[in-house]
Amino acid sequence: MSALRIGPYTLPNQLILAPMAGVTDRPFRQLCRHLGAGLVVSEMVTSDVRLWNTRKSSLRLLHQGDPEPRSVQIAGGDPQMLAEAARRNVALGAQIIDINMGCPAKKVCNKAAGSALLKDQGLVQEILHAVVAAVDVPVTLKIRTGWDRQNKNGIEVAKIAEQAGIVALAVHGRTRADLYSGDAEYDTIAAIKQAVSIPVFANGDIDSPEKAKAVLAATGADALLIGRAAQGRPWIFREIEHYLRTGEKLPPPGLLEVERILLEHLAALHAFYGEVMGVRIARKHVGWYLATLPGAREFRAQFNRLESTDAQCANVREFFRERHNDGEEVAA
Ligand SMILES: Cc1cc2nc3c(=O)[nH]c(=O)nc-3n(C[C@H](O)[C@H](O)[C@H](O)COP(=O)(O)O)c2cc1C
Repeated sequence: MSALRIGPYTLPNQLILAPMAGVTDRPFRQLCRHLGAGLVVSEMVTSDVRLWNTRKSSLRLLHQGDPEPRSVQIAGGDPQMLAEAARRNVALGAQIIDINMGCPAKKVCNKAAGSALLKDQGLVQEILHAVVAAVDVPVTLKIRTGWDRQNKNGIEVAKIAEQAGIVALAVHGRTRADLYSGDAEYDTIAAIKQAVSIPVFANGDIDSPEKAKAVLAATGADALLIGRAAQGRPWIFREIEHYLRTGEKLPPPGLLEVERILLEHLAALHAFYGEVMGVRIARKHVGWYLATLPGAREFRAQFNRLESTDAQCANVREFFRERHNDGEEVAA
């Protein structure tokens, strides 16, 4: 694997945790980094700094204690607001600024942000120039392959990005109109990679070591961005890293290790968010970890009614104790 550079930073490998709002918070970023991700990207932060004093935003803006280099994603549609958001994030400790032009989420798109921007190449150019000029840290961009199937303007946007001084480009292999349906297509990512000389990161549906290798080969990309497959399975990074490096597959983690990782993750979520929010956010993560284990559905129904951090930890321990006794192995 050749060393991947983003500005002054050399990444330890070419595997990146994709930004996911509501998922890639600091506890999850730390865990993924620990389990083999070469870079992790924060959840998007709105460029509207007037909204930053909400609890949700303020937790997203906490960059101290984050694994380095700290990449923070900003989302919005106004060049000057994005520039200001970039400046403030750098002041708060961001070492890389990532601009979101890939997210189809309604909340962002209602304000013509995220992938809705791809329709307006003039505005894309203005935004990229404004943000690059505003900060002295590397700026990266995340896009989709285009606005819709008839308007796959990913190549033009990539060229605009390169000219504007964007140092790396992540491409989700779907158009904005595709949302998350259909299979990610890698041809357009390959064409974008050919069209620019900045590093290109391929994204979309990478969920196994074999798929990772195939996507690298199909796209010629410099790195891979992995999102949903890491939910409840943060060890996917070490599995892919090992496979790409050695050609051999690591055995899946045993039950004992899954239990240890999950309990550590729970403790980190509880500490980061506090009792009320921590309990709520832990529910979805626990559901993802246990999804493939027998009895998970019944367990989840009662787990989701628990209201305290102590009860959550005790229940997870009990779930695993029963399975250890049954001598089950995890099939992750
Ligand atoms: C719950 C969720 C939240 C997401 N939030 C963001 C986000 O904040 N910013 C962004 O650029 N993409 C976001 N995405 C898109 C992912 O970064 C990624 O492009 C997409 O999930 C495809 O990759 P995957 O198939 O590996 O999941 C989100 C996706 C999911 C599932």
